[in-house]
Amino acid sequence: MDALTTYLDSNRDRFVEDLKEALRIPSVSAQEQHKGDVQRCAQHIAAHLRAIGLPRVEVVPTQGHPVVYAEWTGAPGKPTALLYGHYDVQPPEPLALWTTPPFEPVVRDGKLYARGACDDKGQVYMHLKAVESHLKVSGKLPINLKIVIEGEEEVGSDHLEPFLKERRQALDADFILVSDTGMLGPDQPALSYALRGILYTEIHVQGPASDLHSGEFGGGVTNPANALATIIVGLKDADGRITVPGFYDRVRAIPPEEKAIFKSLPFDEAAFLRAAGVAPGHGEKGYTTYERVTVRPTLDVNGIWGGYQGEGSKTVLPAFAAAKVSMRLVPDQDPHELYPRFEAHVKKLAPPGVTAEIVNHHCAMPFITDPHHPALEAARRALARAWTKPPALVREGGSIPIAETFQRLFGLPMIFMGFGLPDDGVHGPNEKFNLTSFHGGTKSAAYLYEELAASVKEPSHAR
Ligand code: BES
Ligand code: MN
Ligand code: MN
Repeated sequence: MDALTTYLDSNRDRFVEDLKEALRIPSVSAQEQHKGDVQRCAQHIAAHLRAIGLPRVEVVPTQGHPVVYAEWTGAPGKPTALLYGHYDVQPPEPLALWTTPPFEPVVRDGKLYARGACDDKGQVYMHLKAVESHLKVSGKLPINLKIVIEGEEEVGSDHLEPFLKERRQALDADFILVSDTGMLGPDQPALSYALRGILYTEIHVQGPASDLHSGEFGGGVTNPANALATIIVGLKDADGRITVPGFYDRVRAIPPEEKAIFKSLPFDEAAFLRAAGVAPGHGEKGYTTYERVTVRPTLDVNGIWGGYQGEGSKTVLPAFAAAKVSMRLVPDQDPHELYPRFEAHVKKLAPPGVTAEIVNHHCAMPFITDPHHPALEAARRALARAWTKPPALVREGGSIPIAETFQRLFGLPMIFMGFGLPDDGVHGPNEKFNLTSFHGGTKSAAYLYEELAASVKEPSHAR
């Protein structure tokens, strides 16, 4: 066995302990109360990058949460990879649903439980441990590496684009690496070539000037909670298609060759639905479950409120009701173009007697790249070395807002090599990361740097 693999294998337990330290910091980007924790997490990761031997590490302030930047450029003539990840996490609430507290990481049954274990601290640490392993074993990396770890991915990455634009030259590279996506099964690695975009909105429905007695006024005035339900029902038809005019105008039809690829994928639909705790799957007519969650757009209520929520009953007509409604988008849909259409459509669906106001929370463009570019071949070789099966080429249902920005600003090949599983509970309670995924992912990252060094004979420019 080579020295690199020996180092990776013999330091596994300590790698997990290092990751646990980052998981103890509640870097919840959405919540103001955690602003200091987010900063502390950035500092912690920066300190760790220095500790593993990276010579240049910065915590860069932005208008929002800081970006952690590091680089190792000691391999002149070798290609350069720009590695992207995020250290912020989703809110852990509701806390009562966690078996053990979200920011007290524990291993149970070969799985590491904590908010961020998989999304994305666990996957960021795979790379940090791969870098450490190379530096410890041979004093150098096979390629040059520029590392950008942001703190706002889970809230739309609003302040990362200015950072990337400002440093466009300094960040120049030959390819972009991201580990923030999923595998198809516990021993089935995957490379992702598409992500959905998102349009995240909030609908406010206002009715009477204040709450009213539901006996005195019921039947005589429009109830905003009922009206909100009417609006939501009206947003999809009986076949599960979204009714916003023009919504599907830019949706690419699935080419027959891609349909055939989907059919041949080792996608375990039963395990996927089991992870969701439902049977059978349900969704847009005419599409498979895999297609519904990757290649088709959708619309979902993410939260809904209004009226009396307390103990027992209260006969009241609420004056107000609201819902958070988001749409997952696919190439070539554009959330900025769709938002005004959505807004107009919601207003039209609102019954007389109420007014509907809509808020646009955030937008992310969908992303698709060529699944056959040569950099992906290097990733395929790395994964085949680290796992027992070669990777499947997949599309993802989730979104990484900055993916399309990287594509637009850098125009580089992008490798999405992720290790999450449908039952990891990302964004939900009891998020976990299988240690087999963490260790296999670390090995994959370490091998990927070697394979990338071999993949490009003439890097785009000398440095
Ligand atoms: N890592 C996920 C994206 C993801 C999830 C990719 C599942 C593949 C499979 C990322 O952290 C995420 O959750 N993104 C948000 C973006 C949103 C807040 C703009 C998402 O998809 O909800
Ligand atoms: Mn993520
Ligand atoms: Mn996430």
